Amino acid sequence: MSDLHPDLPFSGLTHSYYHSIDSTNEEAKRICQSVSLPHLVLAETQTRGKGRLGRTWHSPEGDGIWMTLIAQNSRPPEELYAHTFAASLAVATCIERAVSLRPQLKWPNDILIKGRKCCGILIETAGGVVLYGIGINVNMPALPPDLSATATSLQIETGRQIARRPLIEKILSDLRSQHERNAAEILSDWRSTADISGKHLHIWTDQEEIDGIAIGIADDGGLIVDTKQGRKTYYSADVRVREFSDSGSSSSGDKQ
Ligand code: BTN
Repeated sequence: MSDLHPDLPFSGLTHSYYHSIDSTNEEAKRICQSVSLPHLVLAETQTRGKGRLGRTWHSPEGDGIWMTLIAQNSRPPEELYAHTFAASLAVATCIERAVSLRPQLKWPNDILIKGRKCCGILIETAGGVVLYGIGINVNMPALPPDLSATATSLQIETGRQIARRPLIEKILSDLRSQHERNAAEILSDWRSTADISGKHLHIWTDQEEIDGIAIGIADDGGLIVDTKQGRKTYYSADVRVREFSDSGSSSSGDKQ
């Protein structure tokens, strides 16, 4: 019997539970027009978990939270970035309460503990709905060697197993509150929580790989960076915060 107790409702929502599915985001897209909203899709394992920028998301059975909340999307296109920041604020707050460690927010929507990623968020929109895809590495005692330098789990950081169901319930409750807020408030909270200004960044995009200093987050959610080629604003990129001890090696974009 799963510790998720999928026979019981989650935070009063309707939900679809799968032992195994290709991707909870993909399933959410398939069912979003035929379920009452908000609706939760969750699975014990994903065979084709999706990450940002076309990556795959490692989703082993029973060890993580792999879920997608489907909600009505009432934001105009220029405010879609607010979904991303809303989700990362909600999840980071709940992880902090669950493990008593302060996570860091990394633009646009990663959550790290001690510099390694424990959660990724994939926001998609489809036919008037927003899909909040959330992946949290919870009870993995170790990660595969190709991920362990950049990723971690709540169990690795705390040395103990974390109950998944109460964490999911809290995230859903916080996420529903964030979902109701206006974009400017969410952005303001994200800016002060992430505290990114002045950090030395290494940035990868399809076109370039470059170092720069973070200036802040633009009103449309873009990342503003001063680079040797001038001031730039990024909307889709991979970012690593550089420590002063970094050698400058360019080998480690996030893999998860
Ligand atoms: C990223 O950091 O690249 C985003 C990862 C998002 C992973 C979650 S797991 C649940 C949901 N279903 C997916 O296929 N992806 C998201």
